[in-house]
Amino acid sequence: MTALKFEDQEIPNLDDYATLDKQFIPGRRAIFAIVEASLLELVPEGPVSVLVVGAGGGEEILRHGSDNPDWSFVGVDSYEPMVDLARRHLAETPAGDRAQVEATAIDDLDEKNFDAATCIHTAYFVPDDSSKLAFFTAIRARMKPGTPLAVVDGVGVEGEPQTELLRRIWTRRAVLNGVTATSAENFKKVALSVERQEELLTSAGFERITPIFRGPAIKGCLAFA
Ligand SMILES: C[S@@+](CC[C@H](N)C(=O)[O-])C[C@H]1O[C@@H](n2cnc3c(N)ncnc32)[C@H](O)[C@@H]1O
Repeated sequence: MTALKFEDQEIPNLDDYATLDKQFIPGRRAIFAIVEASLLELVPEGPVSVLVVGAGGGEEILRHGSDNPDWSFVGVDSYEPMVDLARRHLAETPAGDRAQVEATAIDDLDEKNFDAATCIHTAYFVPDDSSKLAFFTAIRARMKPGTPLAVVDGVGVEGEPQTELLRRIWTRRAVLNGVTATSAENFKKVALSVERQEELLTSAGFERITPIFRGPAIKGCLAFA
């Protein structure tokens, strides 16, 4: 199965990415707040290293790093312009001093033994041939045993009535937020059922999959390495 590539989406100016995501993604702020609270609940006090997979733009490092001075971040992203945006966005912020963002695939990252990982709005760009399982397996291989991964992803099944209804709601909300109807229609036509996502995480060795967020065609969960 092929997946939409992030770089194939029509984003005229990448610098508008943070604004666009707020317009497009229902609960964007809530998602960051819930992921931050989840990590605070689960990671030890003191220095914590967080792996951020799909760190382009720098949003989660900025949001999760600002109030947590003991957390440091290693971000990977496969699309150089988004890495560049993350570096620019993080420059001269307190979180930026504790972050490195690399244009690399997760399999090529040497660092291991992370205390936590996040993968927000990213896994659905990885095709569900053997690539998505390899992707989750590579993330788990870089985490300490038992540590939490927070995954937030688009979910649904193409053509299935509930998914299609949720997408229409998604589209209307984006339009209400000022996005043009055409851009809203073009955005993120990606499908992976909740069951398939859980199956992949389990096959990659993750345990205790715990839902933390549900929105229209979006789901967030914790999975433990
Ligand atoms: C929708 S953006 C989300 C960025 C960030 N996580 C956020 O929530 O603001 C998706 C990001 O995933 C990156 N990406 C897509 N496939 C990837 C892969 N296989 N490995 C790493 N990053 C990937 C894209 O380049 C893009 O920067």
